[in-house]
Amino acid sequence: MRIETFLDQLGTQAIEQTTGERAPALLRPANPAHGDYQLNAAMALAKRLGKNPRELAEPIRQALEQHPAIESAAVAGPGFVNLTLANSWIAARLTEEAADVERNGVPQVATPEKIVIDFSGPNIAKQMHVGHLRSTIIGESLQRLLRCVGHQVLGDNHLGDWGTQFGLMIMGQRSFGDPAAYEQNPLQELERVYKLASEAGKANPEFQEAARQELAKLQRGDGDNRALWEQFVSVTRRELDVMYERLDAHFDLWLGESAYNDALPGVVQLLEDKGLAREDQGAKAVFWKEIAAAPATLKKQEAPFLVQKSDGAFNYATSDVATVLYRHEKLQCQRALYVVDARQSPHFQQVFALAQLLDIPLELEHISFGTILGDDGKPLKTRDVHGNTVPLSALLDEAVRRAEARIAEGIAEEKIQLAPEEVPGAANVIGIGAVKYADLKQNRNSDYKFDYEKMVSFSGNAGPYLQYAYARIRSIFSKGDEVIENARGPIDLVDPTEVALGRALLRYGDVVHQAAEQRLPHLLCDHLYDIAGKFSSFYGACRVLQAEPATRTSRLALSALSARQLKHGLYLLGIEALDRM
Ligand code: ARG
Repeated sequence: MRIETFLDQLGTQAIEQTTGERAPALLRPANPAHGDYQLNAAMALAKRLGKNPRELAEPIRQALEQHPAIESAAVAGPGFVNLTLANSWIAARLTEEAADVERNGVPQVATPEKIVIDFSGPNIAKQMHVGHLRSTIIGESLQRLLRCVGHQVLGDNHLGDWGTQFGLMIMGQRSFGDPAAYEQNPLQELERVYKLASEAGKANPEFQEAARQELAKLQRGDGDNRALWEQFVSVTRRELDVMYERLDAHFDLWLGESAYNDALPGVVQLLEDKGLAREDQGAKAVFWKEIAAAPATLKKQEAPFLVQKSDGAFNYATSDVATVLYRHEKLQCQRALYVVDARQSPHFQQVFALAQLLDIPLELEHISFGTILGDDGKPLKTRDVHGNTVPLSALLDEAVRRAEARIAEGIAEEKIQLAPEEVPGAANVIGIGAVKYADLKQNRNSDYKFDYEKMVSFSGNAGPYLQYAYARIRSIFSKGDEVIENARGPIDLVDPTEVALGRALLRYGDVVHQAAEQRLPHLLCDHLYDIAGKFSSFYGACRVLQAEPATRTSRLALSALSARQLKHGLYLLGIEALDRM
């Protein structure tokens, strides 16, 4: 059971025994001087019962102090009950956790759900941009976190593989395509062609009209156009697969926009039948102002939500409504998370509102995230001085190159012991991990500055620091000829640094659950950083290999548990750990 759940139950029981009322109210105080956990129930109850909160808190405090888990309980402030856990109890929990090799000390949720996570979703025939990078990193971590706590998760890559750009692409390829350049670097060539085609379309209405007709032909299933489109998809897929392999990102489904093409007329019909969409100058749209049951914020909105253009073509919006239906009816999911850039929030608000108006029982969440900024504080440019897009792979290459330079420094300073042939592999793990950690350690809603030097640092809150902390703990075991997997305690907490580390380790299961529930991987980053720091203080203050046998056994188990949380926690972030560095 989660520690917080257990303490919550303990608190609820104490309240019930002493007051006859039910009021669960466990808080974790931000200030550790106020104890490990805090109960605020007495204040709420006092209002309800018309009593003095401090007087109500006193018997609750006494009841709680009876329990072996509680070292002391104190009434504080207007009626808080501050709990300090008993070291012996913490130590016993950690000893149990050390033996839980299967679940790594993370209990399962009581009611598992089937959840689809829609993430990455790059567009065909275009390079991935940094927004897709964030979505891939955050989505992969959420997928691992939600699986870890016991949900059934389907990762779905909703590729932008349909829509108006393909008419232009087809025309462009026929008018400006350069087979030799395509052979060399197909994606770059497709981008060049697309740019030319879209300029030609703007300059020349006939070209635009021809593109529109090519699109209509494609959507009707024309053989030649279909073959071209399939080519666009497959060259893009090839590049994406390389990228996902580097990023260690995995999808169960690849249902892009095109997968919903056949369902789109039905979606528009359904929206019309339910009185949600209507015709306007040949197009079909949802006019929010006219829909009584629409959310108030949308009813104020002038702009309608277009679901079919006057030429009959469907929109991004239409395919997203079809996707919601599919995820409910065919995939039988209870919940869908959309890991997409904050700028698409108006789009998702409208899609979600339609789903609700259609009574589709699928919980929908937009897992929004901020922008990656460059040195100048403006959105990170993915174009070079010539206006060409810099592929994301170049960004990863640079991180790996800088990681390699840091490793070389570490070797020179004798902090890192890697043989020359091990360096490239390690640089890759460290460089990619650094990019991911730099992204995940922020609250995803914030923007952040992309700073190579900070991200590849072996000190401070950075990926390499945590990977190094993990490898360093493992090196203690090799030095002592001990097998880390066998270190099971029993754990005893005596030294203050040991107690501090133990208290932090106790939170792992709760932290993983909070990160999963709140869809906030940075909570897990904070925990891992905390563990690495507390381990370092402990190791600086306490002998481990040289200690008396019982203490040695305990400290080895405490070290092994720290290492395991670091490794497993990094795994949940999508980051690999190196056993040796
Ligand atoms: N292809 C979209 C883009 O690049 C992202 C897709 C997000 N998922 C969705 N179901 N709309 O902006």
